[in-house]
Amino acid sequence: MKNVTCIEDLRQIARRKVPKMFFDYAEAGSYSQETLRANRSDMENIKLRQRVLVNVDKRDISTSILGEPAAAPLALGPIGLGGMMHGDGEILACRAAQAAGIPYTLSTMSVNSIEDVAGAVDKPFWFQLYVMRDRGFVRELVQRAAAAKCSALMLTVDLQVLGQRHVDIRNGLTVPPEIKIKNVIDIATKPAWALSILRGKSKTFGNLSGHVKGMENINSLAQWTASQFDPTLSWKDVEWIKSLWPGKMFLKGILDAEDAKIALKTGASAISVSNHGGRQLDGAPSAISALPKIVDAVGTDIEVMFDGGVRSGQDIMRALALGARSCIVGRSYIYGLGAGGQAGVARVIEILQKELDVTMALCGVKSIKEIDRRVLADYDPRLNSRG
Ligand code: GLV
Repeated sequence: MKNVTCIEDLRQIARRKVPKMFFDYAEAGSYSQETLRANRSDMENIKLRQRVLVNVDKRDISTSILGEPAAAPLALGPIGLGGMMHGDGEILACRAAQAAGIPYTLSTMSVNSIEDVAGAVDKPFWFQLYVMRDRGFVRELVQRAAAAKCSALMLTVDLQVLGQRHVDIRNGLTVPPEIKIKNVIDIATKPAWALSILRGKSKTFGNLSGHVKGMENINSLAQWTASQFDPTLSWKDVEWIKSLWPGKMFLKGILDAEDAKIALKTGASAISVSNHGGRQLDGAPSAISALPKIVDAVGTDIEVMFDGGVRSGQDIMRALALGARSCIVGRSYIYGLGAGGQAGVARVIEILQKELDVTMALCGVKSIKEIDRRVLADYDPRLNSRG
C-alpha cells in the first residue's frame, strides 16, 4: 500500500485484482447513470471556504454516531456482494472499521453471514435490512441480527424494486460466477482473488443461503430481487420492523424533505440521505443537493447521515457543512477491500480521516461540532440562517 495516496489509487488496484463482473457490480449506477454522475459532479461543485491565520493546532475529528463515540464522522455502509471483492470481505472490512473506531454495516446481501461476522470480530456492528415478501424470513433475519448483538438496524427503504444496471446484464452477473469461458479466463488472471475466495467461509449470500430457496446459485440477481423483495413495503411496515427490533433503528434512502418529515414520526433514530449511490432512481437529484433541503425540513429532531459520492475527506467536510452529522461510504471502502483486504480498508479509513483533518485546518476549524455552512465558500450570512 506504499504508493497509495488517495481512494482513486485503490480503485485502480482493485480494478486489476477483482474479476470484472464483481468490480463492475460495485461501480455501476442504474440506467444512463445520470444520478451516479450527479452525485460526484454536484459534490465537486461545492466549494470550501479557505480561512487563514486561525490557530488550528490540536484538531479533533472524533464525534458521536447514534449516541456512540466514533473516531470520525464516518461509517462503512452495507454493500451487497462485498465478500466477492475479497474472500471473507465482510469480516475483514468490519475488523478494519472496528480497529479504526468507526461503525461497520453488514448488508442483508453480504457473502459472510451475520453469524460469520459476529464470530470473527469483538465489537458490535450494524445490520442492514431489506424487506422481502416472506415476512417470516424478515422476522428471522432481525432476530438473528439481535442474537448477534448488532448495535443498530439500518432499514433500506429505496429498493423495493431494482433499478436496472446495464452492466450486470451484459456481464451475466451470477453468484457464484458461472463457469463460462469468459469468466474462467478473467478469474485465471486473478489468482490472488481466487485463492482468497476459495479460503473464505462463504461463496454465496451467507445470510440467505440455507434459509431461502434457490440461494445457492443465483442465475440472475435482478430476477431474484424482483421475485423476493416486497414492493408493498410502506410506512406501516417501518412500525412493524421497529416493533421487532430492541435497539436503535434508522432509515437509509431518504431523498425528499416530505419523506424525511414522515420519517420523524416513526421514531427512527436517524435517516440517511441517499439515492443508493445512483443505483436506483436514475434522474433523481444528487444526494448532496438533497441534503440541505432535508436538514432544513427536520432540523435537529433526528440525526441526519449522508451517503452518496463521498470519495475524500473534503467530501465529508462538504456533507457536514450542509448539516449531515456523519457520512456513510460504500464504493470508497470497497475499492480498498478489493485492493488489499483488511489493510486496504484500513488505508481507506486512514486516508479519509487525514484528508478531513487537513481540510478542517485549512478551513480554520478544529472540531467536528464547529463545522456548519460557514465553511462553505458561498456562505452569505444574510442568506444563511444557521450560524
Ligand atoms: C444492492 O444494494 C445494490 O445496490 O445492488
